[in-house]
Amino acid sequence: MKRFSLLTLNFMSHQVKKDFSVISFSICCFALLGSTLIHAKESESYQYEKLPPPRTLTQEQAKVAEANYKKYCILCHGENRQGHVNDHAPSLRSQSLFQSGVPHAVLRAMSFGREGTPMGGYLDEIGGPMSLDEVWNLTYWLFEKSGAERVKLSTEPVHGDIQLGEKVYQKECASCHGKKGEGITAPALGNQSALAHNTDEFIRYAIRHGRQDTPMPAFENKLSSTEIDNITAFIRSRGKDWTMKTTVLKQLPTPDKYIINPQGDNPKFKLQDGLYVSSEDLNNALVKKQRMVLLDTRVTSVWQRVHIEGAIPLPYYADVAEVVKDIPKDVQIIAYCSCPRAAADSIIHQLRSMGYKNTATLYEGIFGWMNFGYPVMHGEISE
Ligand code: HEC
Ligand code: HEC
Repeated sequence: MKRFSLLTLNFMSHQVKKDFSVISFSICCFALLGSTLIHAKESESYQYEKLPPPRTLTQEQAKVAEANYKKYCILCHGENRQGHVNDHAPSLRSQSLFQSGVPHAVLRAMSFGREGTPMGGYLDEIGGPMSLDEVWNLTYWLFEKSGAERVKLSTEPVHGDIQLGEKVYQKECASCHGKKGEGITAPALGNQSALAHNTDEFIRYAIRHGRQDTPMPAFENKLSSTEIDNITAFIRSRGKDWTMKTTVLKQLPTPDKYIINPQGDNPKFKLQDGLYVSSEDLNNALVKKQRMVLLDTRVTSVWQRVHIEGAIPLPYYADVAEVVKDIPKDVQIIAYCSCPRAAADSIIHQLRSMGYKNTATLYEGIFGWMNFGYPVMHGEISE
């Protein structure tokens, strides 16, 4: 199993390297051929060859996959895989995603996450809770549930005029995906993790066909084939240097280290809606060395990447009672996530029902905290 997973990782990093050569290749082509590419054939009709379904899950595998989905994914992607429940997490049942994205576009997003977005990595090798078998099985479970038929996509680069592509992008796409592809109400198309994992054809397929039952429209009848290629090339040109890191779990804090500043005073927070503490108030309390427990409620792999000093990982799917059993009931507890609040809220509600009354959620979440310039630290990272 270990050997198998290493092989797969090697394969993946090979793919990533290939993606980079694709990028440099596209850039070269652009430099060499320049505007001649604009004259590519207009409005060809797209014919995709169908692929047979991948292996079918056994009943046992499907049961585990469904349980994993419920435990780890519902919070943002929704009970019925409909998406957009929290953080504009995409639909995990749209036909076009499962036609074009199985296995790798789905598997890799799930395994490694999307750096800088609320989507964390769930593979155990980067500190997540699922084994490689489990992420594969969950990928196929989502595919089976979607009822989609896979299409065969080329892994060749899509060529186009980057500058013309950007013009159309700003007009047609930026309102949802952001001027710099940073994502507003829709996925961050300029995200380095996404660009390292997704092929050009996968991106073009999404633009042509949209994502069914979501705000993402199909552009195949709205833009010309050349315009779609140009936008694809523009999006690809945003990919720079995302490399896959293997993070190892640093020793987790032991219960005797849970309380920050055990000798300090208790903070007195004014909570908004009886639940929320602001980044400013939390930072002041930390500077004054007040006594508290900080809970990072995201998937553990992202705690390793970055967390507020002293925060202990208590992911939203953990057994809360087990983790907090040694924490006295009077301590001030603050939970945060990147959602910006959904995962933390769910933990705080559980704690309150267990009798922990001095509890609050960090209002702006960890990304808001970082945007204000308040300090964070990294877990241990080894290549
Ligand atoms: C009205 C808002 C809106 C507009 C306009 C829009 N999109 Fe989207 N787009 C979305 C949403 C929302 C999603 C995620 C859908 C889902 O739930 O799967 C998405 C998904 C995508 C994806 C798939 C991303 C992935 O990782 O699977 C691509 C690629 C994409 N859009 C490109 C574009 C491009 C290029 C344009 C302009 C030509 C565009 N979009 C215009 C809202 C929009
Ligand atoms: C805290 C919220 C959150 C949780 C929990 C979460 N996701 Fe996501 N997920 C997101 C967001 C947000 C994105 C889009 C990020 C971006 O690219 O901007 C995303 C993207 C994805 C994508 C890429 C989809 C696409 O259209 O490209 C997949 C696949 C995915 N998530 C699967 C999962 C699975 C499976 C789980 C459970 C194991 C999970 N996610 C848990 C928020 C979440």
